[in-house]
Amino acid sequence: MPKEVVLLHLKSVPHLQGHGALEQSAAYFSGYTKIFVLVDENTEKFCLPLFLKKLPHLTVTGIIRIKSGEENKDIRTTSYIWQQLTRFLAERGDLLINLGGGVITDMGGFAAATFKRGIDFVQVPTTLLGQVDAAIGFKTGIDFENYKNQVGLFAEPKAVMIDPVFLDTLNEEMLRSGFAELLKYAFIGDIPLWEMMHMRHFNEMKEDMPAMISLAVRDKIQIVEEDRYETGLRKLLNFGHTVGHALETFFMGTDTPASHGDAVAAGMICATWISAQRPGLECIASDMIYRMIDRNFPRLVFSDKDIPAIMQLMQQDKKNRAGKFRFTLLHKLGKAVPDVEIPEKEVEKSLLFYLRNQ
Ligand code: GLY
Repeated sequence: MPKEVVLLHLKSVPHLQGHGALEQSAAYFSGYTKIFVLVDENTEKFCLPLFLKKLPHLTVTGIIRIKSGEENKDIRTTSYIWQQLTRFLAERGDLLINLGGGVITDMGGFAAATFKRGIDFVQVPTTLLGQVDAAIGFKTGIDFENYKNQVGLFAEPKAVMIDPVFLDTLNEEMLRSGFAELLKYAFIGDIPLWEMMHMRHFNEMKEDMPAMISLAVRDKIQIVEEDRYETGLRKLLNFGHTVGHALETFFMGTDTPASHGDAVAAGMICATWISAQRPGLECIASDMIYRMIDRNFPRLVFSDKDIPAIMQLMQQDKKNRAGKFRFTLLHKLGKAVPDVEIPEKEVEKSLLFYLRNQ
């Protein structure tokens, strides 16, 4: 297990990663007139005390509390954050610390980057999903009219602190959600990561989690360093997300909402099936991928008659241009190709495969 803190840069933004990252981050919070912390009810209860304990000299002017959950990642909550910043008389020389998962870092980053044309913000991801994906790579934004991340901008935080100390605050469902992204890095290119997790359940990997986060953070930084605005290489990170986002949206607001991880896991099964229809990915590899996903994730429950609605949601995805579906596919385990145009019928068939082969 890596004990030391590693300092990595994405463009010029420092990313402190590893056990002890928080203790070593004090310098990044100095020089500000006022500091605000954005939390939800969970991170206020479980993460804020830990955060303040690790940074005993930090003076916080105000805590901004919002409700957790993807359903609150919207313009209404963003407006509330702007109101609170206004009430606290926040100015350009102030700092917003986003302490939480992907909803907090995406929406807090967006609120900070647009408030008075931009105040500084620091991302402190507390979920596995946030630590390996959402908080890295400068994407900020909110959902709009039921479409995920429909409004937002690329904005650089002043720093990102990735400390595995927060993993102990996560329940099994939250760990599983982040684990889908870890699996994704393994499938698209990180064979050492794959070797650490192959044939195992994420519950048995808690000890290895900090080392796995460390590999994933490097993977993401390397990819975004080369392609910040997602014109090429970064699209690899969308593996499983075209179908995954549509499924996540489809189940939003129902009695059985799908977590990001469960939806992406389903999407990765569909994308793997589509990959296996082409020369390249062998059956032995695709079967291994299905087995690994099924070992760790429950199947989402829907039926054939829901497929048209799911396809409709996919049309709105930013990844799909001019009505054409563009997928990241696997050429082999550990080698992905972005931007492959896929006919609508084949996407539908992949959903049928998901339903019929359980
Ligand atoms: N979550 C995918 C990306 O950051 O590009």
